[in-house]
Amino acid sequence: MLYVDGKWVEADELAVHPEDRGYNFGDGIYEVVRIYKGKMYQWDAHLTRLFRSAREIKLDLPWTAAELKDIAQQLIVKNNLTTDDDAILYLQVTRGVAPRLHDIPSGIRPVIMGFVRRKERPLADQKKGLTAQLVEDIRWLRCDIKTLNLLGAVLVKQYAKEAGAQESILHRNGIITECSASNLFAVKDNALYTHPADNLVLHGITRQTVIDLAKANGIPVHEEAFDIQFLKQADELFLSSTTAEVMPIVAVDGQPVGSGQVGPMVQKLQQLFEQHIY
Ligand code: PDD
Repeated sequence: MLYVDGKWVEADELAVHPEDRGYNFGDGIYEVVRIYKGKMYQWDAHLTRLFRSAREIKLDLPWTAAELKDIAQQLIVKNNLTTDDDAILYLQVTRGVAPRLHDIPSGIRPVIMGFVRRKERPLADQKKGLTAQLVEDIRWLRCDIKTLNLLGAVLVKQYAKEAGAQESILHRNGIITECSASNLFAVKDNALYTHPADNLVLHGITRQTVIDLAKANGIPVHEEAFDIQFLKQADELFLSSTTAEVMPIVAVDGQPVGSGQVGPMVQKLQQLFEQHIY
């Protein structure tokens, strides 16, 4: 069952209005929330980011935090998720329906849609690591907003796949930003390096969790921009996201990262992360 604009429906009953601005312009925002053992993980952080994204695109959300949480919890219940289930919860809000003009219309009602899907943790990939390809960051200059406009992310992922890699590592003028749907960390001399949380990257919730866990365990963290040369000399690389958690990258552009194996820092952070979610 999906929640769409105030109703509970099945996916095949769903009709999108032809002039929904999410559909026409990608004019909307979203969140992907992890469900571990039937329970939402870091809901409050996702909600805070959803409200921030809304503010940044000048969209007034007509729901309270409590109403949104209730929708999320009902999604879990109506889809019979139990303490045996790991899943994701997807929630999006479009600006609503209006004649197709670029101007932001006034007086329209945002349209909300949410669903849950069962999804296992990617433990095999976390053990083995992913391969990545450097790709130019062709996205816009407000990557801090979690908007439905994801064509840039779709294309960079495809470019990496066509080059034979599993993931893209994005660079803007030689400075590493993040990956197509995750943040990137480099490990050098037992310290972590990641792009600052500015307008060029999504302020990932997993990124922040990794930073907090690292600092709490005496691992230095530098939120500093670094370039391709630094990346290529890193001891270890990993990406972070709601679905991937702490995911090692063991090769870039066909060259091994460090030893080419999943390294000790990534293993330590994976352990700390796992302790945090259960
Ligand atoms: N992606 N950077 C980008 C561009 C992202 O799309 C995401 C999340 C992240 C990681 O953010 P978080 O740790 O809060 O999930 C970083 C989600 C999962 C997606 O689009 O499916």
